[in-house]
Amino acid sequence: MTLIPGITIRSATEDDAAAIELLGDTAFGMHTGPEHGDMIRHVFPTAEAIVAVDNGSIIGHIRSTTMTLTVPDERTVEVCGIAGVSVAPTHRRRGILRAMYTEQHRRTEAAGLPLTIFTVSQGAIYGRFGYGPTIRENAVTIDRRFGEFLPSTPDPGGGTLRTVTDAADSVRAIYDRWRRLVPGAQERPNARWDMMFADPVPFRGGGTNLFAFVHPDGYALYRYHHREYGKTAVVAEMRTVTADAHAALWRALFGLELCTHIEAVLTDNDPLPYLLTDLRLVRTTSRHDGLWLRLMDVPAALNARSYRRDLDVVFAVTDPFRDASGTFALRVRDGIADCTPTDRTADIELGIDVLGSMYLGAYPARVFAAANRLRAKDSGQLRAIDEAFGAERDAELGWFF
Ligand SMILES: CC(C)(COP(=O)(O)OP(=O)(O)OC[C@H]1O[C@@H](n2cnc3c(N)ncnc32)[C@H](O)[C@@H]1OP(=O)(O)O)[C@@H](O)C(=O)NCCC(=O)NCCS
Repeated sequence: MTLIPGITIRSATEDDAAAIELLGDTAFGMHTGPEHGDMIRHVFPTAEAIVAVDNGSIIGHIRSTTMTLTVPDERTVEVCGIAGVSVAPTHRRRGILRAMYTEQHRRTEAAGLPLTIFTVSQGAIYGRFGYGPTIRENAVTIDRRFGEFLPSTPDPGGGTLRTVTDAADSVRAIYDRWRRLVPGAQERPNARWDMMFADPVPFRGGGTNLFAFVHPDGYALYRYHHREYGKTAVVAEMRTVTADAHAALWRALFGLELCTHIEAVLTDNDPLPYLLTDLRLVRTTSRHDGLWLRLMDVPAALNARSYRRDLDVVFAVTDPFRDASGTFALRVRDGIADCTPTDRTADIELGIDVLGSMYLGAYPARVFAAANRLRAKDSGQLRAIDEAFGAERDAELGWFF
């Protein structure tokens, strides 16, 4: 297919693997290596990737796979997950990303998947394609030496020290319980688990091998790093299904006496600060929008999740990229949605990127209204939408892709 004169957009083949790897390493400034490359090809089959070709050379690439995503409240939906978006520095700003995206989204629509998700590396590009940030992540640093738990903090015990290899089965089982509860979390493919437990040196970021604390209802995987301020335990992944597991694992991490600091990534409402006598010890060092989401089919996507209160609202949705725009009536009763195209006058006007941000419940409509990105007829309707779209648990990404 030729969307730009001289450039062919086509499906990748196994013969393209080395050129795709070189392009990706160049675009992202990294060295993939054989183990990571194999994992990527297992999770994202090469035959489903799209490449852009100029005179026989691969100069653009996108890969995708179908993922099982949890949406509010504890429902799952099959979605398209996109990764590895790259265009050669020799060919930038000629519309090659746009051409590949056009083809990618045509395929996703043809497959009937209602949502596309993507962990984007730049914030200014993807709104024009109908994506909005949909998860909030807070990187925190804690000076462990001053950490003291409040008398009200549970001390349930139950955590054990395990090697990552010994912990693997428990970790996988707990993750699977956790991801079914948490909007934004995905089922994790075997190849991605194998990669995590193999813990290859190039992906340790200069830290030690992974260590594990396991509780019957949670786990914490962490590694030690030498920072300028002292030895630091960096939590690579912590998943807890119960509040007791959360408290028990944080108590274990605070028990790492020769570490001066602990680093972790928390959602907005993680209870950690409120377990401590000094909540300011949990110091946010940066905030990130861990996942972006696009509705491919507005009624199918809105019907796929459930809602926390009854609602009757008409949305006018604009889509600058595909033809998913239109006016839709969303009627919710007892959490179940019935969304259909309508001729009625809209109560709310918004872009499809804004609806993407609202979808997992982490970004309220009222904030977009204040930013003039959403127009509501009355503020009562806005409150009702925020109550209905809110989720029981903070949205969180299961695994990075
Ligand atoms: C980001 C990247 C894929 C863009 O590829 P490209 O072929 O140059 O993009 P295009 O020319 O098709 O641009 C598409 C649109 O995005 C805009 N755009 C592209 N890069 C942008 C940037 N860095 N910041 C803001 N806008 C950008 C273009 O202006 C264009 O807008 P328009 O179509 O509305 O006029 C490429 O620069 C790249 O590979 N970067 C390094 C790796 C990376 O960041 N990948 C993204 C992973 S999330």
